[in-house]
Amino acid sequence: MSSLTSSPAWRALLEHRDTLAAERIEELWRRDPTRGEELSGGCAGISVDFSKQRATPATVELLVALARERGLAEAIEAMFRGERVNRSEDRPALHTALRGDEHVSVDGADVLPEVQRHRERMRVFSQAVRDGQWKGATGARFRHVLAIGIGGSALGPRLAIEALGAHADGPEVRFVANIDPAELDDALSGLDPASTLLVVASKTFTTQETTANANAVRAWLQAALGPAALERHVIAATANVEAAVDWGLAQCNIFPFDEWVGGRYSIWSSVGLPVAIAIGMPAFERLLAGAHATDLEFRSKSFEHNVPVLLGLIGVWNRCALDMPTHVVLPYASRLESLPAYLQQLEMESLGKRVDQAGALLDTQTCPAIWGGVGTTGQHAFHQWLHQGTERASCDFIVVARPMGREVAHHEVLLANACAQSQALMTGVASDEPWRVCPGDRVSTTFVLPELDAWHLGALLAIYEHKVFVEAVVWDINAFDQWGVELGKKIAAGVLPAVRGKPADLHPATAHLLALIRRAGAA
Ligand code: F6P
Repeated sequence: MSSLTSSPAWRALLEHRDTLAAERIEELWRRDPTRGEELSGGCAGISVDFSKQRATPATVELLVALARERGLAEAIEAMFRGERVNRSEDRPALHTALRGDEHVSVDGADVLPEVQRHRERMRVFSQAVRDGQWKGATGARFRHVLAIGIGGSALGPRLAIEALGAHADGPEVRFVANIDPAELDDALSGLDPASTLLVVASKTFTTQETTANANAVRAWLQAALGPAALERHVIAATANVEAAVDWGLAQCNIFPFDEWVGGRYSIWSSVGLPVAIAIGMPAFERLLAGAHATDLEFRSKSFEHNVPVLLGLIGVWNRCALDMPTHVVLPYASRLESLPAYLQQLEMESLGKRVDQAGALLDTQTCPAIWGGVGTTGQHAFHQWLHQGTERASCDFIVVARPMGREVAHHEVLLANACAQSQALMTGVASDEPWRVCPGDRVSTTFVLPELDAWHLGALLAIYEHKVFVEAVVWDINAFDQWGVELGKKIAAGVLPAVRGKPADLHPATAHLLALIRRAGAA
């Protein structure tokens, strides 16, 4: 594919940007008071308001023309049909097949029967743990699940359990991701091995942090309960069944998923097992159903009314035409506190790329830095930077219409603040005193969920997944690999012997740093 900058549709968009440049978003509102209706859409029950973006219906038309020119329709079909869209790893990206009921063939075999079989095993097992039919080695019911995994093998389940916590009537789930031993100590604190189930989630089953933490907990369980602990207390969700068997697990304790499920897209697979145990399989299936509803709309709706498509196009517009280096995720819902971290992996690992699919250096910017935090808390911390800082960021507000707690009056205050923040970012304020001036004209999109339930959470996460895919297609990058993370892993393996006092061939900068650490530790 030719580069974005040489695309006629992109050049038309840049000309259009220059005609818009003199006008503030507020001015666009004054000129067209109906832009709220024109620049809003819906997907799987979630309303999305783009009207505070620096865009008009004409911008949308030009962006849609860009999507057509970049081959988005063909790319969407290729992904859903199971083509090898992850070219550098030569595999499909079929997370959509995990939540759908369509026949999709990979290497000549229909994946649907296997997906259904895996889901059935999840249903039976999660139900048995919740009912107390699947018991520990001493006959005790499971009261805790220790979920060990990192990156995509942890962020999705953690987010889902926190978000849907009000419906979590199963065993309490605790997560251990980091290799920092403090995290493991904290998670194990107060746990009784007899009533603790270990779920190890790792696509590769080779991730250093996960295997080290899993080894430690396996030893903790076996020290208390003997070798039989493995059989009753340890479960794996992985695409590397062989490694899990070598590690000591029986086939029946392994919940496999396929190589064509990317780590950051794996919440929909057996990696979601802790979620099914916590909230029940019916609720987990509503999460899948919400995501599937998004898939259906993404695949079939015209681009002009297709929310994930529009979000992706606006993402490219903000990053490359309006030059915004950072994007801020602002859920006005405490239970969505982990959403920014989840999206950070989804977007930055997928789109943090500098070469196109053919390996040529890109001549535009790609993924902005993604960060954020819940409102209203963030209003008393980093929103100052949004209102008066020197960088301009785009923001996503996520608002839930129905109260998430008993104090309805508090929810009203929460909603008022969410509305006020996006307005304040757009309008700003003039003043004779320079320190009071808020320049405004800051862009945002607002998502409105009717309620924070499994369906809408699934729909929301799938909207973001597809938004990322759209951006990748426009930029012509592979959203499904992450080669950049390998370098650090390789260097860490070389540094570890030196940390343990053994001879190692260190870079002088690292030798210097290690000496500092040793001195600090000895002091
Ligand atoms: O190192 C990054 C990464 O590969 C992520 O893409 C992935 O989600 C995470 O590590 C965990 O990998 P695994 O599930 O194989 O343990």
